[in-house]
Amino acid sequence: MQKRIHNFNPGPAALPLPVLEEIQAELLDFKGSGMSILEMSHRSRWFEDILNGAVDRIRRLLNVPSDFDVLFIQGGASLQFAMIPMNFAPVDSPADYIDTGTWSSKAIKEARVLGRDVRVIASSEDRGYGYIPSDCTADENACYVHFTSNNTIKGTQWAAFPSFGNIPLVSDMSSDFMSRPFDVHPFGAIYAGAQKNVGPSGTVVVIVRKDMLERTPDTLPSMLKYKTFVEHNSLYNTPSCFIIYTTGLVLKWIEETVGGVEGVAERNRRKAQAVYDVIDDSGFYRGTAEKDSRSLMNVTFRLQDESLEKRFIAEALEAGLGGLKGHRSVGGCRASLYNAVEMEAVQALTGFMKEFERKNG
Ligand SMILES: Cc1ncc(COP(=O)(O)O)c(C=O)c1O
Repeated sequence: MQKRIHNFNPGPAALPLPVLEEIQAELLDFKGSGMSILEMSHRSRWFEDILNGAVDRIRRLLNVPSDFDVLFIQGGASLQFAMIPMNFAPVDSPADYIDTGTWSSKAIKEARVLGRDVRVIASSEDRGYGYIPSDCTADENACYVHFTSNNTIKGTQWAAFPSFGNIPLVSDMSSDFMSRPFDVHPFGAIYAGAQKNVGPSGTVVVIVRKDMLERTPDTLPSMLKYKTFVEHNSLYNTPSCFIIYTTGLVLKWIEETVGGVEGVAERNRRKAQAVYDVIDDSGFYRGTAEKDSRSLMNVTFRLQDESLEKRFIAEALEAGLGGLKGHRSVGGCRASLYNAVEMEAVQALTGFMKEFERKNG
């Protein structure tokens, strides 16, 4: 009998069980091909169907307009921190960034390394990155405004996205992509590592507005140009075939099993509410993000008596609840409640939290 834990890992993270079972069922012979998907050419008709199917699902699920391209790129969101300014920030116009923590700061750092005219137009550093800034004004000549939609480490999230008129938004949506509906129109580019809400690690979904591609300098190497991925339908070089296949199955699960992004957003809202309720109803736990900036994806919290945290995490694991340790840079606890985490897992967590409080409070 296989034993599976309730998985609250921050990424790579839980995948839907039916997706894992489907992979298992077709692992040795993919749809009568006589091969595993792991062994198949990326130029085969089977893989082309997988890739195009995944792109089509992203288009349908998020209502992606026709003047946007959907791409799969390797190198993680971390490579996007550099590709975005390389492609979209001419050296002579300001690139505006909002700094809401580690991942935004890394994006800012990469744009600066490239010598771009980076302006940090808002930051939540003054209160330990525990909130989302509300007052941001962009330079009217800014080539884009970059922000991180969900801050995985600090557990904050933009409830509504900022708006800067015609200046395109660029967002790192790695930790809340496909977790809720949003309007794609104001964006010049969106990127998201798959490994939290839509698949395993190894690919980044990039959605880019076609006119942004005109900014790309010819001098960039092929693999660093979005245009290369657009012109070759993400098949210029060998992509992460198995990861894209798995991502396609997760997207199918979102679309066909849990009611699309609207359905998944409602599930996510209920899951996060259940954990925040336990935190707020107790004097034993303490949420670390300011209430109006709380993330529905990563619930970050401390125990009032921090010396109990190690025991909390160890006993949780013994009870079958994994991945609750906070990021090593901040400590504490974090429950990541991405799309594939079921309400049943959340109920197990809230039950455990109440019981731990009863015994130790
Ligand atoms: C919001 C955000 N951006 C970027 C990254 C970095 O992603 P990668 O490791 O795929 O480069 C992470 C990783 O956790 C993240 O949470």
